[in-house]
Amino acid sequence: MSGNPDPRQLSISVLRYHPQAPEDPPRLQTYEVEEAEGMTLYLALTEIREIQDASLQFDFVCRAGICGSCAMLIDGRPGLACRTLTATLSPRITLAPLPVFELIADLSVNTGKWMRAMSERLGTWVHYREEADLDTLEARMDPDLAEHIYELDRCIECGCCVAACGTARMRDDFVGAVGVNKIARFRLDPRDARDDGDFYELVGDDNGIFGCMSLLACDDVCPKNLPLRTQLAFIRRRLARQGWR
Ligand code: SF4
Ligand code: F3S
Ligand code: FES
Repeated sequence: MSGNPDPRQLSISVLRYHPQAPEDPPRLQTYEVEEAEGMTLYLALTEIREIQDASLQFDFVCRAGICGSCAMLIDGRPGLACRTLTATLSPRITLAPLPVFELIADLSVNTGKWMRAMSERLGTWVHYREEADLDTLEARMDPDLAEHIYELDRCIECGCCVAACGTARMRDDFVGAVGVNKIARFRLDPRDARDDGDFYELVGDDNGIFGCMSLLACDDVCPKNLPLRTQLAFIRRRLARQGWR
């Protein structure tokens, strides 16, 4: 029950398509849901799946904006279903899967495959200067720097920044703001042995920082409010100097 004496009736249209069943063309299917107090899109979709249509596919794990798996296009804008209150939307809502990523079915896309390929390509782990000695304590890090790195590590790999980016739509191998943010994070890490020349090799081209057209949709939609605009500018400045561009 909603607790609201006059709850809104939501009309939720979902773009449905299963690549495994190409004989059924993509279609918009509309579900009617009574809005409840504090209802998120995730809760509305769960109600639809439990009561109206068990075949509807969408992803979720944490329901708390942490795992990044429930990202989708909400009225055309990438966002997290579990962090979007239906009260912030009009009663006619349209949902579609994130573009760019491989479609699994309906609202479910394979962001994991894309993120893994990007991470392997960019080496998104600390490349230590020397082999780790487990008996020696790691050198202390300046607290302000650690805080800065922690801020960039808050990325949940939801894919919203990639789905919103015009360059990512045009270039299959574009690393996106998520990739540049990771490069910025490891560029700052004093334990990482790589230098600007190494990072230039990784993202100093049109599939990296020089493919970014400063459209800034990534910065607008990131559900973790990561400072993507600042990171893109930081890496562009560093690597432009490196490559004399
Ligand atoms: Fe999602 Fe933001 Fe990370 Fe992009 S940078 S994947 S929008 S959390
Ligand atoms: Fe794309 Fe963001 Fe650059 S939207 S073009 S990565 S500023
Ligand atoms: Fe984990 Fe939404 S279900 S971010």
